[in-house]
Amino acid sequence: MKIAVPKEILPGEQRVALIPESCGKLIKAGLEVVVETGAGLASGHDDEAYRKAGATVESDVRKLYGEADLLVKAAKPAHHESAGAHEADLLKEGAALVTFLDPLIDFDLVRKLAERKITAVSMELVPRITRAQSMDALSSMANIAGYKAVLIAASTIPRMCPMMMTAAGTIAPARFFVIGAGVAGLQAIATAKRLGAIVSGYDVRPAVKEQVESLGAKFVEMGLDTSAAEDKGGYAKEQSEDFIRKQREMMARVVAENDAVVTTAAIPGKKSPVLITADMVRGMKPGSVIVDLAAERGGNCELTRCDETVEEHGVTIVGPSNLPSSIPVHASQMYARNIQTLVNHFVKDGSWTLDMEDEITAGCVVTTGGEVVHPRIRELMELPQLDPPQQSAEKPEPAAADPATEGASPAEGGQN
Ligand code: NAI
Repeated sequence: MKIAVPKEILPGEQRVALIPESCGKLIKAGLEVVVETGAGLASGHDDEAYRKAGATVESDVRKLYGEADLLVKAAKPAHHESAGAHEADLLKEGAALVTFLDPLIDFDLVRKLAERKITAVSMELVPRITRAQSMDALSSMANIAGYKAVLIAASTIPRMCPMMMTAAGTIAPARFFVIGAGVAGLQAIATAKRLGAIVSGYDVRPAVKEQVESLGAKFVEMGLDTSAAEDKGGYAKEQSEDFIRKQREMMARVVAENDAVVTTAAIPGKKSPVLITADMVRGMKPGSVIVDLAAERGGNCELTRCDETVEEHGVTIVGPSNLPSSIPVHASQMYARNIQTLVNHFVKDGSWTLDMEDEITAGCVVTTGGEVVHPRIRELMELPQLDPPQQSAEKPEPAAADPATEGASPAEGGQN
């Protein structure tokens, strides 16, 4: 079975889906890995490192995609300028694809993948369960984003973070407020603490209070009824407009007291809740900053513009959409580990196998055999549900090794 690793085409995307070490592990497991020329350069891995790990390097994009049984990538498929076609159209029918897909929003892409009979696996939909922790790219990327958001905030505010007692006087520590204490938020809190700031955090789920406090931050109580804030899976539920309004009123004072606010509030599959209004921004001190990690889903601040920096009354609002890519070495290292373990999950005895009764598989396979098979996405796309037995029995075309391409020599293991 041949796995292809392309050079990402999204402008600014510096990650690569497999680093040489993870290629080595997959090759050891009996798979063949082909990497596009220069695919790992931005993340610190040259073609030679991939060759040493046992992969082959291919410069012909059409050949790379067209011969792949499985394509692994980071950014969702898009039109490939130099190949002159959409990435989904470059794949052979029946091939598998593992990547971020944005399937709860980008239904055109989902439709296209189904039409092309691609078995598409969404990294966003890997369930956050213990067994799938090492495959959970949302968490690993959110960790990086939380860290980087604080660095951006720290370098934007016109002051230092830690308290300093110097001969020239005492410098008061900066104040950071983190809204949403999921994966990104907790990492943001931990990073701001490491920089020496005074940190407070808030989340609609009361269960995270202990985690916020264990990082040495203060949990801000809003005095709101949060008994229905969490669903059975431990995720935040969408709150009513009335709840969000009350939350904003309570939060305005806290936001105004802080030098930096990092917002990470998210409800899976929904637009981000707007928690900071333009009025609240105007109540902040000049020189304060908001780093809005939810920018891509509309933002937690009313004034956020995705991938832009907005100035309002001396307050800077930054809305970066792809922070993991700005730390490509570690983002690729972590993402490659997630991809490698997920691929291992799907590959049995050297070939791609789908067991739709498995919780991880059923959770993240979006299309296969020409159908959209993910019940939640079918519902969102207003498609009738498939019969459960039909879904369980669904098997993709086996990704048999292409006889025209002989296997690469197995590597002795990872190099990096
Ligand atoms: P998560 O689901 O682990 O955490 C989100 C948190 O927001 C949850 O703890 C939830 O309870 C909380 N929340 C929901 N509604 C709230 C409300 N009204 N008030 C306060 N808290 C509320 O999500 P994760 O993985 O930490 O990601 C957070 C955000 O960061 C997401 O929007 C995600 O898309 C984004 N992200 C952005 C990146 C970037 O480069 N900009 C990279 C990675 C993630």
